[in-house]
Amino acid sequence: MKLQEELMKYKILIEDELKKVIPQKNVPQKILLESMEYSLLSGGKRLRPILLLKSCELFDGDIEDAIPFAVAMEMIHTYSLIHDDLPAMDDDDYRRGNLTNHKIYGEGMSILAGDSLLNYAYEIMLKVLIEKKEQLKYIDAMNVIAKAAGFNGMIGGQVVDIDSENKEINSETLDFIHLNKTAALIEASLVAGAIIGEGDSKEIQLLKDYGRLVGISFQIRDDILDIIGDKEKLGKDIGSDVDNDKSTYVSIHGMDKALNDLKNYKNQAIRIMKKFDKDRSEFFIELSDYLMSRTN
Ligand code: IPE
Ligand code: IPE
Ligand code: MG
Ligand code: MG
Ligand code: MG
Repeated sequence: MKLQEELMKYKILIEDELKKVIPQKNVPQKILLESMEYSLLSGGKRLRPILLLKSCELFDGDIEDAIPFAVAMEMIHTYSLIHDDLPAMDDDDYRRGNLTNHKIYGEGMSILAGDSLLNYAYEIMLKVLIEKKEQLKYIDAMNVIAKAAGFNGMIGGQVVDIDSENKEINSETLDFIHLNKTAALIEASLVAGAIIGEGDSKEIQLLKDYGRLVGISFQIRDDILDIIGDKEKLGKDIGSDVDNDKSTYVSIHGMDKALNDLKNYKNQAIRIMKKFDKDRSEFFIELSDYLMSRTN
């Protein structure tokens, strides 16, 4: 399989949907719509929506059914990035190769753009629920996404992340941060896709386990790239973690262990996906390999 081509194909598909979603209206709150669109369409790997669609496809689900949830997931992720970059949080100036939202629109507007993307994500999912009332799987998928985005998921991780600045934390606390701020949405993307594709409960659990491992690895690699990454490739400044006196996988365990653990997590993730037929699991296996050495 040509992984990069496959990723690009799905990225284009998702971006075509994202382009249609923000209304272009001459309304008094036009500036908010511009600010939402600025961050939503300014690049990004689109990993979470790609995982959601691919996970649905793994069970021969119809991708069309999963698209609104993939769009919603990318909106929730984008809102988390807009808020993560604010001066009150990581205070970063570049994201996805462009100035951060608050650098263009101001802090007030970027708080509101984030809030609005979050709300809109739920509107989009609820529209499906209303149209397909008799199908409980869509409610299940939305429930998984809502929980992963909330206080017991991404937001919970962000709380402990900022609360741990300028402090010594142990590796359990760091694991909590990584599992929640990053792995939660990645895992939820895979689980929501599997639910919509109608995987059985055992299969859904395998996707959940894979998602957790990929999610932790994703943040370990993010921590590594904050030190050795290239600003142009990453599309964001490096050194943000040191500037904010944050504990990272590298500051706690050292670079050698970080690289080695990435390899172990990758192998575990691959073992899980090998339980599916080879032709179906290929994408997920190649992806875990690529993610551990990604440069953006
Ligand atoms: C950045 O996520 C935030 C983390 C969880 C590390 P991505 O690296 O997926 O960012 P985009 O969506 O590609 O910009
Ligand atoms: C961000 O973690 C996680 C979320 C946005 C939820 P980081 O703060 O490490 O992400 P980057 O490095 O700014 O992309
Ligand atoms: Mg952060
Ligand atoms: Mg950050
Ligand atoms: Mg980071």
